[in-house]
Amino acid sequence: MRYIKFLCFFLVFQLTAQQGGMWIPSLLEGMNESEMQSLGSKLTAKDIYDVNNSSLKDAIGHFNGGCTSEVISPKGLLLTNHHCGYSQIQSHSSLENDYIKNGFWAQNFEEEIPNPGLFVEFIVRIEDVTNQMLMNVTDTMSPRERQSQIDKNRNKVEKSIQKEAWQDFKIRPFYKGNQYYLFITERFDDVRLVGAPPVSIGKFGSDTDNWVWPRHTGDFSLFRIYADKNNRPAPYSKDNKPYKPKHFLPVSLDGIEEGDFTMVFGFPGRTNEYLPAVAVEQITQKVNPARIAIREAALKVIDAYMKADDQVRIQYASKQARIANAWKKWIGENQGIEKSGAIAIKQNFEEEFTKALKIQNKEDAYGKLLPQFEKLYKEFEAVNVKRNSFVEVFLRTNELMQMAFRLIEVESAARQGEDQFNEARETMINRLKSIHKNYSVKVDRGVFNAVMPLYTTNWDESIYDTTALIDLDKALKLLEGDANTVVENINADPAYQFAKPLIIEFYTTLEPEFQRINTEINALQTQYMKALMEVMPEERYFPDANSTLRVTYGKVNGYTPRDAVYYEPVTYLQGVMEKYVPGDYEFDVPEKLRTLYANKDYGQYADKNGKLPVCFLGTNHTTGGNSGSPAIDAEGNLVGLNFDRVWEGTMSDMYYDPEICRNIMVDLRYVLFIIDKYANAKHLIEEMKLVHPKKS
Ligand code: ARG
Ligand code: GLU
Repeated sequence: MRYIKFLCFFLVFQLTAQQGGMWIPSLLEGMNESEMQSLGSKLTAKDIYDVNNSSLKDAIGHFNGGCTSEVISPKGLLLTNHHCGYSQIQSHSSLENDYIKNGFWAQNFEEEIPNPGLFVEFIVRIEDVTNQMLMNVTDTMSPRERQSQIDKNRNKVEKSIQKEAWQDFKIRPFYKGNQYYLFITERFDDVRLVGAPPVSIGKFGSDTDNWVWPRHTGDFSLFRIYADKNNRPAPYSKDNKPYKPKHFLPVSLDGIEEGDFTMVFGFPGRTNEYLPAVAVEQITQKVNPARIAIREAALKVIDAYMKADDQVRIQYASKQARIANAWKKWIGENQGIEKSGAIAIKQNFEEEFTKALKIQNKEDAYGKLLPQFEKLYKEFEAVNVKRNSFVEVFLRTNELMQMAFRLIEVESAARQGEDQFNEARETMINRLKSIHKNYSVKVDRGVFNAVMPLYTTNWDESIYDTTALIDLDKALKLLEGDANTVVENINADPAYQFAKPLIIEFYTTLEPEFQRINTEINALQTQYMKALMEVMPEERYFPDANSTLRVTYGKVNGYTPRDAVYYEPVTYLQGVMEKYVPGDYEFDVPEKLRTLYANKDYGQYADKNGKLPVCFLGTNHTTGGNSGSPAIDAEGNLVGLNFDRVWEGTMSDMYYDPEICRNIMVDLRYVLFIIDKYANAKHLIEEMKLVHPKKS
């Protein structure tokens, strides 16, 4: 009897332990700590996050604001994904030095390449500032009153922050604005490229395999942080020294097996787990289809040119990847929401919520929330779809329209005064230079023709014959002279003439209307979150991702995507060879790697059966921004590098289903193997601390 009871307890525990969640590292003591330990972790909350001693968090850096990276040596060696370092790798590449195609490996510190603009940020400390930030904020305030009170409070909080001169800070809302946390940060701006495998390894499988399991991608690249002589953040200088971290992650040579505990530590960007059903419906049935169609049209053109022309391939590599990535994700997200019945599940949940309100006598306080959502989302639909389409066409796919969009800013600055104008012109000149660094008119014209019909019925591609913007010198000429001359010149440009009314429509009607309703929806969402936590306290609540440092944990685990199919959680080098298509732009395999495979020359990196692991799956709840995050074993060692999710589970940003949501990681043994055996960069391996946690 006692045994059965124990078993039941254990089962329940196991189930909830797989429910996902992205947790605040400073709040792990209690529920998370014991849940992690029940999954096999030997770590305490303090091992992960500590203010007074070094802890795991000191090794985790926000990479350029969008990805995650981790320090893996006492000399500031930094690991992240290949796709996170892609634009840096791309920017140093040319037809002569094609680092995309051939990879890059610095042989010593001198050969490491600086990357202007690239930064890595660490979290020094996290503080709960909810009480200060919400002081005198009441439920009866309008969204505007609430915001202005919060702004006042923020000023006060900012004045009382204790930090060193070289540190920064940020304050972020959590639980839809029901809690606030302060982050003290240290940001390093001298970050140099150290190593990258060729795309045929780092992006093996490309778009066909993206978001898909089974996966065989060695999606990693290496950078190094440099600091000043006091080991503090400093702008690039050749006198800077490799950074000495407070903590770096040891790397495990023992790897993982199915069932092993893993945690992923990083900076997830954005999730929306507490949307009402009506919102999920709008996103999947209206917004996503519009965005998917526009990107698909653009990609058809870009892909064809990239395959035909090596110059275009290099120019558009990073841009194409960005467009293709979200495109494919939205398709998977829609399928997952559909297949999991997420909308109906959310509707049922909302019925439960409504019942609970009745029972608890809270209809007066919260009874209007769901009907309000219905009403607002109805109002929102058309403008939401149109604004998203505008952004896709004018800011994400077509580059000529991007230039025109920015020129409007120059024109409006010209009307504000001399200083504003000069500043805007400077910014515009830099923008034009950066777009033209990788610009192909034929590609962009093709994209224009493909996407514009999806936004407006009136378009005219002949603007490409006459606009100055497609040529950098001519475009820069447009910006010469005083404010009046410039305004006159740009207004005479055919591309600008075409774009201007559409951009003005965006600024005067689309955007204000979108923001007006969106503000109301957000205010409602704040109340809804509060209501949920109050009325249904037994549910599992974690704050939505907001680009702040989080811990998510789970186990190495396969999954069943459909009837009678089970996916094993680990892939091997053999699988790379199974996918190998000689000369293919997605599935080619470098000769050296084929030779290593043929000779089974895996060194110390093979598993105990003599096979070389490549990627593995876990039940960690991740999202965009978790790219490059370390997967850490039960003892705090690095075992994997997060880079993706499985196709059937990409809806986890809105609805996490523990049955099929899995994150995908590169096995660190594959990373080490590529560095050591493929690239012969043994000096990098020697910097690291390799450990055998399972042998002790
Ligand atoms: N899907 C992963 C992420 O969201 C990897 C993207 C890079 N790979 C690619 N083939 N575009 O970032
Ligand atoms: N590849 C994604 C990124 O760049 C992470 C994968 C995901 O979205 O889960 O952040």
